[in-house]
Amino acid sequence: MLKVSVIGATGFTGEELVRRLVSHPKVKLTYVCGKESRSEKIQDLFPSLKGVDLPCHAFDPKKAIESSDFVFLSLPNTVSMKVAPQFLEAGKHVVDISADYRMDNELIFKAAYGAQHEDTDNLKKAIYGLPELYREKIRASSFIANPGCYPTSVLLALLPLLDKGLSPKGICIMDAKSGVTGAGRKASVQLNFSDTNENFKAYRVLSHPHEHEIGHVLKQQRAAWDFVFVPHLLPLNRGILTTLYVPTDKAKSPKKLQEIFKSFYASEPFVTVLPDGKLPEIRHVRGTNQCHLGLSFRASQNMLVIVSAIDNLVKGAAGQAIQNMNIMCGFEEGLGLS
Ligand SMILES: NC(=O)c1ccc[n+]([C@@H]2O[C@H](COP(=O)([O-])OP(=O)(O)OC[C@H]3O[C@@H](n4cnc5c(N)ncnc54)[C@H](OP(=O)(O)O)[C@@H]3O)[C@@H](O)[C@H]2O)c1
Repeated sequence: MLKVSVIGATGFTGEELVRRLVSHPKVKLTYVCGKESRSEKIQDLFPSLKGVDLPCHAFDPKKAIESSDFVFLSLPNTVSMKVAPQFLEAGKHVVDISADYRMDNELIFKAAYGAQHEDTDNLKKAIYGLPELYREKIRASSFIANPGCYPTSVLLALLPLLDKGLSPKGICIMDAKSGVTGAGRKASVQLNFSDTNENFKAYRVLSHPHEHEIGHVLKQQRAAWDFVFVPHLLPLNRGILTTLYVPTDKAKSPKKLQEIFKSFYASEPFVTVLPDGKLPEIRHVRGTNQCHLGLSFRASQNMLVIVSAIDNLVKGAAGQAIQNMNIMCGFEEGLGLS
């Protein structure tokens, strides 16, 4: 059994990781922690984990290193980069769910997050953990930067076009909406129940850090796309729905585009291209590691509309992280994800 730690187990993504890892057939969860000790067992903190007899510690890297061979970091952005080097130096396999290692360029990191990167050596070593793009690199790596939730929903919608070298003939609009868990468990006035329930709003328009992450991956794929990314806050706990408006060229027919997407994802376990005429809905992916994609094409305007739905805590975070662990460790890719 692989001995696994979850650092940041008391947060939203950490809780989702623990919930899934306790029933993973190849994993023994040996260490879980939050920032502070709550002097509680994890099952007392999260009663849905009944029977999981593990103390929830205050974070102690030494104990985590002694107890495990594989480490998930579910820590806030800019905290992971202070913590990851110790685990990597100790020879542990690490999947970092934060944004700290997603862009292998400290200047882009600073532009996105307004902070100096403190671990530039490992920044260059991390592999971007989008299995549908980098599966073979993930398999050979011991350090994965798990993609952001919005970038996962956007990039999975675009990979088939990138694969065929199809660029938009103008600006691609990425109109994304997320449930409130996307912001983490910490309290804030803007995220309180009365301000989010029965409300809907855009936020960080043209200034969200995930715009940098999306642009960085597109650049790595030599796709110099012109795009605009606008996030919105949905009055839901979990789920992301992104609508992408891609101006395309005349040569493509709806049937051809559908075929390109279907064939690109034919053997992918966690991406489903819906049949022509069907569109994704958040309720159909909630609690799953699936991304659902739906396509519409208006020939008179050469406009391709792609709708992408994921659960931000699963395919957008903990589920994708477990998928990455399965690939890194040679386990069947879907273990712990059904
Ligand atoms: N939420 C999402 O949908 C989502 C999706 C993709 C990626 N992410 C990324 O995943 C990471 C975690 O997100 P989250 O939503 O799970 O956040 P969260 O709910 O705020 O949880 C953060 C966790 O980190 C712990 N922590 C905070 N500061 C720490 C420190 N200095 N040392 C040790 N532990 C510390 C917290 O412990 P305490 O409870 O003791 O404070 C908590 O367990 C973030 O970087 C986020 O950007 C989130």
